[in-house]
Amino acid sequence: MVAEGVVKTHVLVIGSGGAGVRAAIEASRYGSCALVSKTIIGKGGCTTMAEGGYNAVLREQDDCEIHYGDTMKGGAYLNDPALVRILVRESPDRIRDLVEWGAVFDLTPECHIAQRPFGGQRFPRTCYAGDRTGHEIMATLVERLGSTDVECHHEVSIIDLMTGAEGVSGAIGLDRDGEIQVFLADQTVMATGGGTRIFDISTNSTSGTGDGYAIGYRAGADLIDMEQVQFHPTGAVYPYDARGRLVTEAVRGEGGVLKNVLGERFMKQYDPERMELSTRDVVSRSIATEILEGRGTAHGGVNLDVSHLPREVIEARLPVMLEQFMRYGVDIRDVPMEVAPTAHHIMGGLRINPECRTTKAGLLACGEVSGGVHGANRLGGNALAETQVFGKRAGEYAGRSPKREVEVNRSQVAATSALLESFEQGSVSPAVMRDSLKSAMWEGAGIFRTADKLKKTLATIERLQSEQPVSRGRRGLNDCCTLRNMLGTARMIVSCALLREESRGAHVRSDIRQDWDPSSSPYGHTWISVSGMGIEQVVRA
Ligand code: FUM
Repeated sequence: MVAEGVVKTHVLVIGSGGAGVRAAIEASRYGSCALVSKTIIGKGGCTTMAEGGYNAVLREQDDCEIHYGDTMKGGAYLNDPALVRILVRESPDRIRDLVEWGAVFDLTPECHIAQRPFGGQRFPRTCYAGDRTGHEIMATLVERLGSTDVECHHEVSIIDLMTGAEGVSGAIGLDRDGEIQVFLADQTVMATGGGTRIFDISTNSTSGTGDGYAIGYRAGADLIDMEQVQFHPTGAVYPYDARGRLVTEAVRGEGGVLKNVLGERFMKQYDPERMELSTRDVVSRSIATEILEGRGTAHGGVNLDVSHLPREVIEARLPVMLEQFMRYGVDIRDVPMEVAPTAHHIMGGLRINPECRTTKAGLLACGEVSGGVHGANRLGGNALAETQVFGKRAGEYAGRSPKREVEVNRSQVAATSALLESFEQGSVSPAVMRDSLKSAMWEGAGIFRTADKLKKTLATIERLQSEQPVSRGRRGLNDCCTLRNMLGTARMIVSCALLREESRGAHVRSDIRQDWDPSSSPYGHTWISVSGMGIEQVVRA
């Protein structure tokens, strides 16, 4: 069933996290803009769950060159240097925008924005609002959005982009009653965030299902480095319901220490210089090794201790952590938290240029769904900065683009109707399929990978893609569409992980020995699109 009317707009933004809302605010300065969210705008997505902070060079003693160098080194030099330059240069202005719009960050006694140390950074440049930084940013953006003319569509999930001879011309969505909604746009901005919900244990909100990667792929755009998945070192390990929930890096930034069950501060062995503030790939592997080698806690984690810190520091700077653990009967002022790695962020994504344009005409991308900024490992605090820097850019370049002759692709709308009807005739529960996918991804595409385990996971994904999920009624259609995206994203991650026959950043192939370090790797980006996939070779003079 197709709902009445087609929404026509100059810029269509898909996704309502930090990048999407920032893009919509900016685009609305140039003409009409519609924002589509599969949740209620401001209530879903991962930005609001981001705890620790936002990286920006704000002090004389810091320098954009240092932020650039930290980001490139942290990313194992797989980052796109032009995008990193933009990130470090523009993130200070974007945090000033937020302050101007009312965001309240923690301040120093001199009334400057306070900054804390985060992993892999030579200067404490992570700005914060306690340990609810993303929430503060999101609340500010939503408030600002309210003062624009952006047309907001809540609880509409995009099924596919609409394409034609001239590229992308909008999108086809599904509203919460199971009716098709058609959006016609001169420019479409993909800002759907990440997708680590395809793993059994994840920090992402339930909306982190990788929709934008799969939708962009089906529309014909190129994606890069999809194998690069960040496992945040510290997720909660118990109770079961809280498994994977983010325990912010700010805990270590404020002085928290990691110890194994023998009481050893094990980071001394893995990175004696940076210790707990090493990069996330290193800390995650170190924790995973301690657990695998039998030095983990009873619940299968390691201890993260802040009990040596003054109680008032914990209460003022880590209030969400204090409350979150108190709910499970753990007072972190007195006893350690138990933590283990959890799937957190996808570094790869839609290939973009500095104007956020993808390889498909009419389609731009920003935020986590895009690839290239973070390379093979993201520094904590660079994601919130990325949402604001590239959200603004995507909105601006989309907004400034000329109007185009776009029209509804009726045969694509009919094909989408047929797809939805096929789900009504399906036979397998999407929840069961989703659980099989998540276990297979955790087992085979986790922190330590081998070709054998990856191939086994790929076989599971292919089997699941050959099954037909069933929708019980129109309201269940969304689960089937989401599953389709989860499977598509998982397949890209595993296929690219097989292509990258080296260990680099977050991607570790424990079945491969290599005699180069990341800075002299013979490999560049992996890429994948409907026309094929491959890995770029680096030619050195
Ligand atoms: O640990 C954290 O607070 C997460 C921050 C980030 O992923 O940038």
